Amino acid sequence: MSVLTIDNISKSYGGVTALENVSFEVPEGQIVGLIGPNGAGKTTLFNVITGYVAPTSGKVTLNGKDLTGQPTHRMAKLGITRTFQGVRLLNHSTVLDNVLAAQDIHAGPSLDTLFGFAGKKERQLRHEAEQLLSFFGLWERRFLPAMSLPFGDQHRLEIARALASRAPLILFDEPAAGMNPAESLELMDQLRQINRNRAKTMLVVEHDMSVVMGLCNKVVVLNFGKKIAEDTPEGIQNNPLVLEAYLGKEMDVASSKRLNN
Ligand SMILES: Nc1ncnc2c1ncn2[C@@H]1O[C@H](COP(=O)(O)OP(=O)(O)O)[C@@H](O)[C@H]1O
Ligand SMILES: [Mg+2]
Repeated sequence: MSVLTIDNISKSYGGVTALENVSFEVPEGQIVGLIGPNGAGKTTLFNVITGYVAPTSGKVTLNGKDLTGQPTHRMAKLGITRTFQGVRLLNHSTVLDNVLAAQDIHAGPSLDTLFGFAGKKERQLRHEAEQLLSFFGLWERRFLPAMSLPFGDQHRLEIARALASRAPLILFDEPAAGMNPAESLELMDQLRQINRNRAKTMLVVEHDMSVVMGLCNKVVVLNFGKKIAEDTPEGIQNNPLVLEAYLGKEMDVASSKRLNN
C-alpha cells in the first residue's frame, strides 16, 4: 500500500518552474530515493509535501488523506516529519531538550504532572529519548548545547528528533551532507535499522550515490522540475536519461563519479 502519493504536482516561482507534473508513490515500509542535479526541484518537493509552500497545482495525499493546504505544525500529528537540508535544531537548547521538545506532541496534560510527580508517560518519554540518543552515540553529550556538536552529530540529532515525533513517514533532505565516507556508511546502516526495527517509511534526498544505491528500494529522478525516471537503483544506474541529466550539467563532481562507478 502506498503511504504517500504525489499526484501531478507543479510549482512555479514567477517565471521559474521548480516542479512540473511530478507524480509518484512511496509504498509503506519502503525507502524511496529522490535524486537529481542541483536545482532539479528536490527541496521544493519536500516543501510542498510538508506544507512549507503551496503547490501551483496537484495534490499530495498521506494514507489517502489530502495533505495539500495543511499547516506545517500539524504534519507530525498527521504522520509525517522531515529533516532539513543544512540542519535545523534548537541551537541554544541541550541535546536532550531538542529530543524532548520533538516528543512534545505526545506529552499532553496529565494529572501526574499537575501534582508534581514525574508521571508514567513522562518517564516513558524520557526512556525513549535516552534510547534514541544512545542509538546515535549522543547520550553522553545530552547536556551540551546542540550547536556545540560537530556537524555530523547535528545531523544525527536532527534524525533523532524526527524519530522522537513518532511519525511513521520521514523525509530526509541530504542527511549525509558534510559526512566523510565512513560516517555516510554508518548513517546508511542506521537508517536501514530504523526502517526495519521501527517500521519507518522514508523518502530520502541524497547526493551521495553510494548511500542512495545502497539504501533505497526505488529511486525517483528529477531534472529541471520533471520526473525523468523511476526505477530500482540498478535500473537508474543504467538509465541513459539519468546519466545525461547528470553529465549535461555542472554538478557536484563526487556524485557524478559515484554514479559512473
Ligand atoms: N523560494 C524560491 N523562490 C524562487 N525560486 C525558487 C525558490 N525555491 C526554489 N527556487 C527555484 O526552484 C528550482 C528548484 O530548486 P530546489 O528545489 O532548491 O532544487 P534542489 O533541491 O533539487 O537543488 C531552482 O531553479 C530554484 O532556483
Ligand atoms: Mg535541495
